[in-house]
Formats: sequence, structure tokens, C-alpha cells
Amino acid sequence: MISLAPLERSQDHTVAHIAPFPDQILFVGTVEEIFREPPDRFDLHQILMETAPGETTPVGVFKIDRHYHISFPVAPAGEIGMRALIIDSRVQGKGVGTAAMRALAPYLAPLYPQASFVYLTVNFRNLGALSVYAKAGFENTGDTWPHGAAGPQAVMRHPLRSPTPAEPT
Ligand SMILES: CC(C)(COP(=O)(O)OP(=O)(O)OC[C@H]1O[C@@H](n2cnc3c(N)ncnc32)[C@H](O)[C@@H]1OP(=O)(O)O)[C@@H](O)C(=O)NCCC(=O)NCCS
Repeated sequence: MISLAPLERSQDHTVAHIAPFPDQILFVGTVEEIFREPPDRFDLHQILMETAPGETTPVGVFKIDRHYHISFPVAPAGEIGMRALIIDSRVQGKGVGTAAMRALAPYLAPLYPQASFVYLTVNFRNLGALSVYAKAGFENTGDTWPHGAAGPQAVMRHPLRSPTPAEPT
């Protein structure tokens, strides 16, 4: 059972054990780095796994960029972006990432009521991440972000709001 929750900057010790595999750092950075992001722009969030009834342990982190278009002008102003998704290497490949990304839109929607979409970019070589995002309902925008540290990236987005039902005629 996977859930998502805000991560306060004072909680850094609770997620310090989370790390990607060394060869994944190129794609995503480290948990330590996300705590250096300015709070006026970045919110931190954690991915929790239920280990016993009523008991959870953090197994992943990500950050939400509230001004994503400043770094990624492929997204319109006002939309949010998810960055630095890291699932701890010890639990990768067990469905945690897919469950977390399926839970993402319903979790973010009430927290960011001004946004219509959550955007992300993902390296074309990061096949595991591409598979997880597709399974969780992210769509390719068709844009390519060419400036990724590890090479070109696909631009994906997921709606945060249900389409308004059509007016009865
Ligand atoms: C990418 C990441 C978030 C996925 O999390 P996870 O918990 O391992 O994902 P899951 O176990 O839910 O699913 C992994 C899926 O990717 C697939 N996958 C893994 N490696 C793959 C590869 N090289 N090629 C194709 N598919 C791959 C698996 O088969 C699985 O799909 P399945 O359930 O259909 O079999 C995690 O691996 C991670 O933190 N990676 C390092 C950081 C990173 O790259 N973050 C994303 C930056 S955009």
C-alpha cells in the first residue's frame, strides 16, 4: 500500500536513507540535493509504504516546482512540474513507482488548485521511468526538451482536473 504526503524540510533525517542506484544519479540527482531547493519555489513530497497496519516508512521523494515554466518553457506559466522522483534502490522494480504515479494526480489536485496539469521531463534512455509514467496515465506532449544533463528528454503531462461535464442540451 503506497501513499503520498508532504515532506517538511525539517524531516530530512526521515528520508536520508533513500538513494537511487549510482548510475541513476545522472538522471535524477540525490535526496540531499532536493533539500537545497528554495522553498518559495519548490515543495517537497514523500512516498510512503505501509509496513504494518497503521505504520509507514518513506521509500521515495519528489519535488513540485511551482514555477516550472521558468526552467521548462515547454509548459505554460501557472502549471506545476514534478522533478527529482527518486524511489529507493532497495524497493525499485516492485511496483512502488507505478502505484505512486497513479496516486499523483488525485494527491496534487487539491494542493495546487490553480494548476490544470502536472508536467515532467524524462530522458529518452530512462526506459523504466518512461514505462511507469505511461502506465500511470501521463501523455506525451510531443515536445522534446533537448537540454537534459544526460541527453534529450520527452515532455509528459497528466491532467489534474476532470473535464467539466458537457451542459445538457
Ligand atoms: C524510475 C523509477 C521511479 C521507477 O520506480 P519503480 O518503483 O522501480 O517502478 P515500478 O516497479 O513500478 O515499475 C518499473 C517498470 O519499469 C519497467 N522497467 C524497468 N526497467 C526497464 C527498462 N530498462 N526497460 C523497460 N522497462 C523497464 C519494469 O518492467 C516495470 O514495468 P512492469 O511493472 O510493467 O514490469 C525508479 O526506478 C527510480 O527512482 N529511478 C531512479 C530515478 C529516476 O530515474 N527517476 C525518474 C526521473 S524522470
